[in-house]
Amino acid sequence: MKSQYGAYFFKDKVVWITGASSGIGKSLASAFCKVGAKVIISARNIDNLNKVKNECLPSESIKVLPIDLEEINKAEDVTKRAISCFGKIDILINNAGISQRGMAVDTGVEIDKRIINTNLLGTIALTKAVLPNMIAQESGQIVTISSVLGKFGAPTRTAYSASKHGLHGFFDSLRAEIYKHNINITMLCPGYIKTNISLNALDKDGKPHNKLDEGQANGISTEEFAKRAIAAIYKKKNEAYIGGIECGGIYLKRFFPRIFAWVIRRVKIN
Ligand SMILES: NC(=O)c1ccc[n+]([C@@H]2O[C@H](COP(=O)([O-])OP(=O)(O)OC[C@H]3O[C@@H](n4cnc5c(N)ncnc54)[C@H](OP(=O)(O)O)[C@@H]3O)[C@@H](O)[C@H]2O)c1
Repeated sequence: MKSQYGAYFFKDKVVWITGASSGIGKSLASAFCKVGAKVIISARNIDNLNKVKNECLPSESIKVLPIDLEEINKAEDVTKRAISCFGKIDILINNAGISQRGMAVDTGVEIDKRIINTNLLGTIALTKAVLPNMIAQESGQIVTISSVLGKFGAPTRTAYSASKHGLHGFFDSLRAEIYKHNINITMLCPGYIKTNISLNALDKDGKPHNKLDEGQANGISTEEFAKRAIAAIYKKKNEAYIGGIECGGIYLKRFFPRIFAWVIRRVKIN
C-alpha cells in the first residue's frame, strides 16, 4: 500500500474514526493500521470496538474511545480524550451513521430527529470540537462518509437523505472557510456496501429494520471500499463516489433531472 499511495504517507498520522465498531468503519480502522497510522476507534458498542482493536495490529497503535453521537453536548469532552490518546488528530473520519426504512407520511418526527441528530448534528458537533486543534497545528483532513443519498433523494429515506444532504452543505461551506489553515475536507459518497446498515436502519416506528436488503447483500465489500477510500483520502479529493452502478444516479440527476425523477419513483429501493 505504501508504494501505491506514496511512501509512508499515513505512517504515524493519527486517524480518529467514528462508527468503527462494524462495517465500513471497522474496515477503515484495519486498513489505516496496515499503512502505519495510529488509530482511535469510536462508536457506542464497547465490546465490538474491543473486538476490532484485537483484530488490528500492532495493538499499541489503536485506542478505543466510546462515543454516542446523539449526545451532542459531550463532543468537546470526548475530543479532549481523543487528543490525549496520541497527542493530536491529523485525520477525522466522520463515518458513524444510521439509516432509515419508512415512508415520510408514516414516520414520526422523533424518528427523523434521531437520524438527523446522529448523522448531521452529531457529526457537526464533533467536527467543531476538533477544528480548533487542527487550526492550531495548521494542518488536518476531515473526511465525512456521506452517501449517494447525499446527492439525490429516494423513497423511504427522507430523513436519512436530508441528513446526508445537510452534511454536503455544512462541509462545502467549511471547506472554503478553512482552506487557509491547510485543512482539507473530503466527502466520500458510498453506493451499496455490504454491511449491516439495513439491519440497523430505523423503521417508521424507530425499530431496527432487521433485514439485509438486496442492495447491501449485492454491494461491494468493506475492504474494497476502504481501499478506494484510502486512495481518495491520500489524493485529498474534495468528493468521491464509491460503489457500483447506483453511483450513476448522481450523474443522471445532474444532467437529466427529469429522467432521474421518472426513474427514482419507479425503481425498487432497498
Ligand atoms: N453500507 C452502505 O450501503 C452505505 C451506503 C451509503 C452510506 N453509508 C454510510 O456509511 C457509514 C457507515 O455505515 P455502515 O454501512 O458501515 O453501517 P453499520 O455497520 O451499521 O455501521 C454504522 C456505525 O455507526 C455507529 N453508530 C450508529 N449510531 C451511532 C451513534 N449514535 N453514536 C456513535 N456511533 C454510532 C455504529 O456503532 P454502534 O452501534 O456501536 O454505535 C456502527 O459502528 C454510515 O454513515 C452510512 O450512512 C453506508
